Amino acid sequence: MEYLFILGRNIELSIAEIFSYLKKEGIQIQFYSKKDNVLFVETDKKIDSVKAINQLGGVLAIGKVLYSGNFSEILEKIKKNPIYFENKTRFSYSILNFSNEISTDDIRFEIENKFRSEKLKASYKSAKGEIKMQEGNSLVGSPSNLNSIDIIYFLFKNKKNYFGIIEEVYNPKEIEKRDMKKPVRREALAISPRLAKILINLSQIKEKETLLDPFCGIGVILQEALLQEINVLGIDINENAIGHAKKNINWLEKNYSIKANYKLINENSKTVKIFQVDGIATEPSLGMLLKKIPERRQAILMIKRFENLIVDVLNNIKKYVRKNGKIVFTAPLIKIFKGKISCNINEICRRTRLNLDKGEIDFPLREFRQDQIIGREIFVLVKEED
Ligand SMILES: C[S@@+](CC[C@H](N)C(=O)[O-])C[C@H]1O[C@@H](n2cnc3c(N)ncnc32)[C@H](O)[C@@H]1O
Repeated sequence: MEYLFILGRNIELSIAEIFSYLKKEGIQIQFYSKKDNVLFVETDKKIDSVKAINQLGGVLAIGKVLYSGNFSEILEKIKKNPIYFENKTRFSYSILNFSNEISTDDIRFEIENKFRSEKLKASYKSAKGEIKMQEGNSLVGSPSNLNSIDIIYFLFKNKKNYFGIIEEVYNPKEIEKRDMKKPVRREALAISPRLAKILINLSQIKEKETLLDPFCGIGVILQEALLQEINVLGIDINENAIGHAKKNINWLEKNYSIKANYKLINENSKTVKIFQVDGIATEPSLGMLLKKIPERRQAILMIKRFENLIVDVLNNIKKYVRKNGKIVFTAPLIKIFKGKISCNINEICRRTRLNLDKGEIDFPLREFRQDQIIGREIFVLVKEED
């Protein structure tokens, strides 16, 4: 089976998330290829696109390949085989062309002939929306533009040419509702639901397993995990934060008709005693909020404080993580006048006897906005020894 993912603003992070997500779902990638903000994958099993678009934080759209071959074979297959699977007879459609070998006009000509012969009234709409990438450049794929078109076909080229259809487009309104309508918001400190989903997927924790967030705050990671039917344990040293997390989870239960399996503990994660969990996804305190770029000395001090905090917490809670469980956390990436400063992961690994997860992806991955003073590095560690 062949699929195409249109990626969000942080390409490397989105790819890492997809790899982890598919692994968690028991789906093997047999081949992959990327071009701009598009990832093409060949898998051994079917991907449930509805579930995937809801659970992935870094993907804008998911498409499935219908036909492959050389240019004339694709035209022939469009002519002879179904390409429209809905009931409406009047709809808009578009073509996203990621192939440098096939012209959109040629495909469009073939598709329109086919629609005409099937008495379908399809109007062509250009998929012209753009998304601003982390590095500041713009690429194809604004979700509002993609959501405004009924049917979107795509063309992609690697070993062969592929013609396919977008099955699902991410709906930013749904996640915005969750983010804005929950009873307690904490804009300056809380993580976005999109990034929370990415951290959860990187942890590869499955439904019915237990995720620990030892710095849970108002519980954004906990809520996104609960929506994926993951059981959660949240710890925070701040009593108010725990109260707020509880309110937010109760709201989630009512508004999403779910029975949340959760536990919240108001304690210090450096000393708390808990039970076994399957993995960790967390955003620790990244340090004080900065309004202007700090001196190098101040940034180094903040990084050292962060390293000490994460080492102390990991040394306490790692015994509760099952063998081979993953520990996903963000760390500060501080802008200084010349470059950026981040923590020394080898030192964190040495002091905690945890290892960096080795796979197709080299961590850390960076997540930042151009105007941010404190961005993030994302690490995935693994507990290999008991
Ligand atoms: C960046 S915030 C977490 C944001 C969280 N993801 C959210 O959605 O709100 C960090 C949290 O860690 C908590 N914290 C700091 N040190 C802690 C410790 N030693 N043990 C437990 N919680 C701690 C703070 O009270 C704060 O709520």
